[in-house]
Amino acid sequence: MKNLDNLARAILQGNDKGAYTIPTSGLYPYQWNWDSVLAAWGFATFDIDRAWTELETLFQSQWASGMVPHIIFHEDDPGYFPGPQVWGTGQTPPTSGISQPPVAATIAAKVWGMDPDAGRERIAKLFPKMLAWHRWYHEVRCMHGPATITHPWESGRDNCPDWDIGMAGVDGSKVAPYERRDTGHVDPEMRPKKEEYDKYVAILEFGRDVGWDDRKIMEEGPFLMADPAMTFILLRADKDLLAMAEKLGEDTAEIQGWIDDLTAAVPSLWNDDLGSYDASDIRSGAWANNISSGAFLYTYAGIDNPAMDKRTLDAWDAVTYGIPSADPKAERFDPQRYWRGPSWPFMNGLIAIGLQDAGRDLLAERLRRETAELIRKGGFYEYFDPTNGSPCGGSDFTWTAAVWLAWAGRT
Ligand code: GLC
Repeated sequence: MKNLDNLARAILQGNDKGAYTIPTSGLYPYQWNWDSVLAAWGFATFDIDRAWTELETLFQSQWASGMVPHIIFHEDDPGYFPGPQVWGTGQTPPTSGISQPPVAATIAAKVWGMDPDAGRERIAKLFPKMLAWHRWYHEVRCMHGPATITHPWESGRDNCPDWDIGMAGVDGSKVAPYERRDTGHVDPEMRPKKEEYDKYVAILEFGRDVGWDDRKIMEEGPFLMADPAMTFILLRADKDLLAMAEKLGEDTAEIQGWIDDLTAAVPSLWNDDLGSYDASDIRSGAWANNISSGAFLYTYAGIDNPAMDKRTLDAWDAVTYGIPSADPKAERFDPQRYWRGPSWPFMNGLIAIGLQDAGRDLLAERLRRETAELIRKGGFYEYFDPTNGSPCGGSDFTWTAAVWLAWAGRT
């Protein structure tokens, strides 16, 4: 697979802006939080120094509260909406006002493991920053038990059916006039709809209007949902952070407390009628009633659940290529619309980390093989139709190239 390896490296290098990487030019011209972390995983396979730089740049934009924003607007680009002026966070460089799933500690641990000597000083400096970010997650976003999101974009799974009930309560009719830019870059059929977009902007405007005050957003914001993926990713990252603390000779008591609390909150994500982990609306208590790739991350968090194993396999077996982002048997399943069905290579990579750690080598290998097949046949696209493998969204995508190098392309 030499040619594809070379191509993947060329994509990372092409999207490299010096000290950070953009997801793909045009559609996503800035630094995105979890994309950037995954980019570091890919860089680590051929340039470990560049991998650490990627993580360091991300954490340079950490807020005083500990929050690490989901977008950092290093250089203005009029081809993207909503840009820095719309977010109005007053940060330098400008950033968005919400976060994204904290995969950093997990991937940083892997990068460190790839060259322990080269990484020791770099990880020691990043450790307190990751600790502060996790503390923010636990104190602010986990105040109701499981990890919550205050905007669908915070989940990183923007238009997943998980968020439909929360979005139903958002009034998008009063947003300031705006022009979308995403649909100028890719087929609108693959992107969220206008009505959804109005609501995304309305939730954003609320945050900006309260000066991005965490307390007001958590108490009065128009959208607040418990997110299984965020909970599982944070729990996994806490465990990686704890192991890191032990190796660095740092105190572990606080992190252990977070792990205990979050583990105790996991059963609250179980929707008995659905027989699956499920998202729910914190304010109304209503379930999303949706099986999604968020729920499939339980193994990644080190959680054992035979009933969920069955759900996962049912969804996986119903398609041909990788794990779908939403239940193929549900009416809402839409195999080419973003997070409403497509298979995402980096998400498959995270799920495979969990399968591997749980000793389920055959399943991990199946997932790797199917993901590799998607990329081999379709190229380094943003995501794929899991029923027929057609490539969708943006091309030359950073995290697809990165997971190819770090995982899918390795036999
Ligand atoms: C979309 C995805 C999100 C990702 C971003 C940049 O918003 O839903 O997960 O971080 O694009 O690739």
